[in-house]
Amino acid sequence: MKRTLLALGAALCTIAAFAQPRLRADNIDEVIAAMTLEEKIQLLVGYDIGCTVVGTDTPLAGFRVPGAAGSTRPIARLGIPSAILADGPAGLRINPTREGSSQTYYCTGFPVGTVMASMWNPALVKELTTAMGQEVKEYGVDVLLAPGMNLHRNPLCGRNFEYFSEDPLLAGLTGAAYIDGIQSNGVGVSLKHFAANNQEISRWENDSRVNPRALRELYLKCFEIAVRDAAPWTIMSSYNRLNGPFTQQSHDLLTGVLRDEWGFKGIVMTDWGFKEGTVAAVHAGNDLMEPGSDYEAWRLREAVAAGTLAVEDIDRNVRNMLEFIVRTPVFKGFRHSDKPDLEGHAKLVREAAPEGMVLLENHGALPIQGVRKVALYGVGSYDFIAGGTGSGDVNKAYVASLKEGLESHGMVVDSELAAWYRDYIPYKKTWLRNKALGEGKYPPFRPIAPEMEIERNYLRKNAIENEIAIFTISRNAGEGNDRKAVDGDWSLTAQERQMMQDIADECHILGRKLIVVLNIGGVIETASWKHIPDAILLAWTPGQEGGNAVADILCGTAYPSGKLPMTFPNSYLSIPSSHNFPYLYEGPTGVAAAAVRNVGFTEYQEGIWVGYRYFGTAGVPVSYPFGYGLSYTSFEYSKPVVKVAKDGKVTATVTVRNSGETAGKEIVELYVSAPDGGLVKPSQELKAFAKTRELAPGETQTLTMSIDPYTLASFNETTSAWETAAGTYQARFGASSEDIRADVSFRLSKPFSWPVERLLIPQTPVEEITVTKSR
Ligand code: BGC
Repeated sequence: MKRTLLALGAALCTIAAFAQPRLRADNIDEVIAAMTLEEKIQLLVGYDIGCTVVGTDTPLAGFRVPGAAGSTRPIARLGIPSAILADGPAGLRINPTREGSSQTYYCTGFPVGTVMASMWNPALVKELTTAMGQEVKEYGVDVLLAPGMNLHRNPLCGRNFEYFSEDPLLAGLTGAAYIDGIQSNGVGVSLKHFAANNQEISRWENDSRVNPRALRELYLKCFEIAVRDAAPWTIMSSYNRLNGPFTQQSHDLLTGVLRDEWGFKGIVMTDWGFKEGTVAAVHAGNDLMEPGSDYEAWRLREAVAAGTLAVEDIDRNVRNMLEFIVRTPVFKGFRHSDKPDLEGHAKLVREAAPEGMVLLENHGALPIQGVRKVALYGVGSYDFIAGGTGSGDVNKAYVASLKEGLESHGMVVDSELAAWYRDYIPYKKTWLRNKALGEGKYPPFRPIAPEMEIERNYLRKNAIENEIAIFTISRNAGEGNDRKAVDGDWSLTAQERQMMQDIADECHILGRKLIVVLNIGGVIETASWKHIPDAILLAWTPGQEGGNAVADILCGTAYPSGKLPMTFPNSYLSIPSSHNFPYLYEGPTGVAAAAVRNVGFTEYQEGIWVGYRYFGTAGVPVSYPFGYGLSYTSFEYSKPVVKVAKDGKVTATVTVRNSGETAGKEIVELYVSAPDGGLVKPSQELKAFAKTRELAPGETQTLTMSIDPYTLASFNETTSAWETAAGTYQARFGASSEDIRADVSFRLSKPFSWPVERLLIPQTPVEEITVTKSR
């Protein structure tokens, strides 16, 4: 009997193998039924270079699109093509040249994630990523591995430039707009790195230990908004562990929260690296192992044979994979041109970048008027940084320097100074590379030359011979390393500070101005020196048109309209997470000091007290608050009106008037303070925002913002429910989190509650700090 059954089984398998439906959007069941177990396994494991080409013994030599990060495995007999996956997020990352071809394949270097969030303008973000997505499609890529969604928990996270904000609403809405733009082209995104991936130190295995409230209100909330609003095709689980298991192996995260609660319908892929536990990943709902190895396929095969992995589990993930594949351009037979509109996109980047630049100080210095001769200081003025390093870097054709930008406006850059920098920068970069090699280290991928020393006599001569001075301060960061709370990274070097002071003194004595441009990827210390220059423009790392866009603002053909998506604190140690962000314990003595605590795990002891939620509530002064940014003009807010509908939906309107003398755009931030009595809450939280169109002097615009009761909810760990209390709320309309221009109360007559399953619970509750309201 047994033998007959076996024979029957084998015959059915053979029939399945020979039935050859071709994949269509409407025959996925039929295709799954026709697939052999081996084919199903192949589909769940990425197709990295070196993996065996399906059905042969030949290793895959390269991707269809050279420089792509990965792909899925094709199954030719069923008409299943290989989808190509490439990085993100500041543009498409592929190789710019190809062997045997004289064509170039450059991609546009777009503003990094932090710049997009500083725009507070989802419509513009969507416009930018619609252009980015065209490059993805026209270069034959199916999924862009972006956007980076993790919250800025601590300013030293080395990948913060790829991410958006310290606030989950701003991050979530910026992310949703990003996704909409890319996917409007018929290509996919991979929202990453899911979740609580807030540091690079020990990134492969660090356990982020977070209590459920902070996790849900902050670290998951940004992903939740983007998933619910924009339905990304794919999500990338992160390298780290979250409250125990690796995120890629967390059923709570990938199935309980992501699919069952949020309704995610796409595929989950791992971040790029093999981990033990492939079978656990399949069980958790991680559909695709990237970059993929034949070894992972072997493990799945063995698990099925051993009975520890059910074919039903494999089938569920295979179905997700096929539903994904049928959406891709490669499946649809799209013939890409390899000729995206790079010129048009460069123009768009130049026009958009100023919206993400933040004017921090302006004491009558900007825009520059009536002067032409510039003493241009700072290595970054000549060697401008467009974006960060690592997988988020883009192979762009050029980066416009500030020198070029200023010259395009007819400014005359001091030629002797420019010649010194021209010789110094390449020399110093080579020296840095050689030094690293000499020490047996990897040479820095994109070194920044330390600031050039210039004698005081020359500063004086330059001040006399020129009419204005500009000094660019540069910092960069990238994947794999966190930044450090030391001079030259978090704070200025003694030399930078002294040089800034000396240039300012020499200029001021002659009645000339000094403008500082910050060409940086993340927050730095500003409190101790911000009084020195006459203006500070935070340009961030705004993409390949950086120097041009900065010059447009400085010279007044564009204006800044960005606001900070994070707080600039007075000092690093005033940030609650600085006390357990790993760097602090990794001093020069290294591992011994690191062993004190926090090795292999990070306890999010600050709980919900991240960024302005902490500083604003505790009344701790900061250098520049969340949401801050000046303009070349000024704005007045009318008395706002707030209405509450029967279903609890709040609608707020406010009219903004340009009360200054030049055109500008204003961002209105709507913070809400909850009634006392329920859960302890921050003194206020951002619940909506809106940006005006360009307003001419005297012009007005009425902005409407709405908030639904779910957006007002906090997470109650005791009841495992999102809860919005009944009572009187304050709607606070701010030009920044600390510049509240109008305040209106509204009432919710009944409470709301949304219970959820108890998931992602830390093995031991994290002991959190307590914060008491200062006001
Ligand atoms: C990064 C991801 C990236 C992937 C592919 C990983 O190391 O963490 O962000 O998408 O590599 O390049």
